[in-house]
Amino acid sequence: MDVDAVRGRALVEESREAVVVLDDADRVVLASRRARHTIEGVREGEPLPSELLTGGRGVIPLVVPYEVDGRRERLVYLSREGDLAAYEELRSGFTAAVSHELRTPLARLLTLLETAALPGEDVSALLEQAAGEVEQITELIDEVLFLSELESGARVVALGAAPVRPVLAEALDELQERAVRAGVALRLECEPEIELAIRPRMLRVVARNLAENAIRYGGPGATFTLAVEREQDGSVVLSGSDDGIGVEEAELGRLFERFYRTDRARASRGTGLGLAIVKHVVTQAGGSVVAQGGRGRGLEISCRFPASA
Ligand SMILES: Nc1ncnc2c1ncn2[C@@H]1O[C@H](COP(=O)(O)OP(=O)(O)OP(=O)(O)O)[C@@H](O)[C@H]1O
Ligand SMILES: [Mg+2]
Repeated sequence: MDVDAVRGRALVEESREAVVVLDDADRVVLASRRARHTIEGVREGEPLPSELLTGGRGVIPLVVPYEVDGRRERLVYLSREGDLAAYEELRSGFTAAVSHELRTPLARLLTLLETAALPGEDVSALLEQAAGEVEQITELIDEVLFLSELESGARVVALGAAPVRPVLAEALDELQERAVRAGVALRLECEPEIELAIRPRMLRVVARNLAENAIRYGGPGATFTLAVEREQDGSVVLSGSDDGIGVEEAELGRLFERFYRTDRARASRGTGLGLAIVKHVVTQAGGSVVAQGGRGRGLEISCRFPASA
């Protein structure tokens, strides 16, 4: 085999897609590992089950014909219904939402600057507000970048387990001043010996987002408690709960969606990415998240990490 042929074979074989090369009699000349393992009946040297070329079994064939040495062959991508479509939808939805979220503070920024150019306006107050808008745009961009870092497989899990209490205590400390201003008390309940194999930076992101939410939405007089417990089966549950205004029960399941904010939250700053990020971090560490509570009953977000984490 010449270099090109070896390269071509490796490309197909190691492709992450379910992809096959067919000869002019629809026989499989080459198939990616993914195709062989996930689609029944795909075997090199044998004919491709004909329904796979006609949209059967939920497979959408994408056919790329070409000629080599006078022989006609076809490269066929065998995507599952949903695979590609769901991914494309997710991407385009995300891009649309980011653009929309950016447009609002940008429009306010423009108005502020235009107003500042009018005679007799309080320019320094307007500039201060403009700086606030820029801050919000920066926050949004940082969160989007962090999310995409997570999605591209940034390391959430650390090599060794380490005590979690110091990380959580520091995260709460940093928010103490804001909490006092909002009239929200912050508490930490965590035995010093509890450990998790999660990067401190990631753990800090989780703690910070949960506490920030309680400070922002709980309302004056609320108490936020960050509690960590080791269960009988060895799993570790980290929960952030407050006794503030809470959300409607029907909204609990949607809080982890990107950009989801309850109607009541819209008046305040925020982009709706915080809990989506929390969910990402926890699931990448092999864990799961749930939201509990109800209107007027506060909110509790529990993150469960498996025993090995
Ligand atoms: N402790 C809480 N009490 C009441 N509502 C909450 C609480 N935490 C979250 N929420 C609701 O859930 C929504 C989503 O929270 P999330 O942290 O994902 O986004 P955000 O706080 O709006 O923005 P961001 O965290 O990206 O700055 C909030 O907008 C708010 O409506
Ligand atoms: Mg938030």
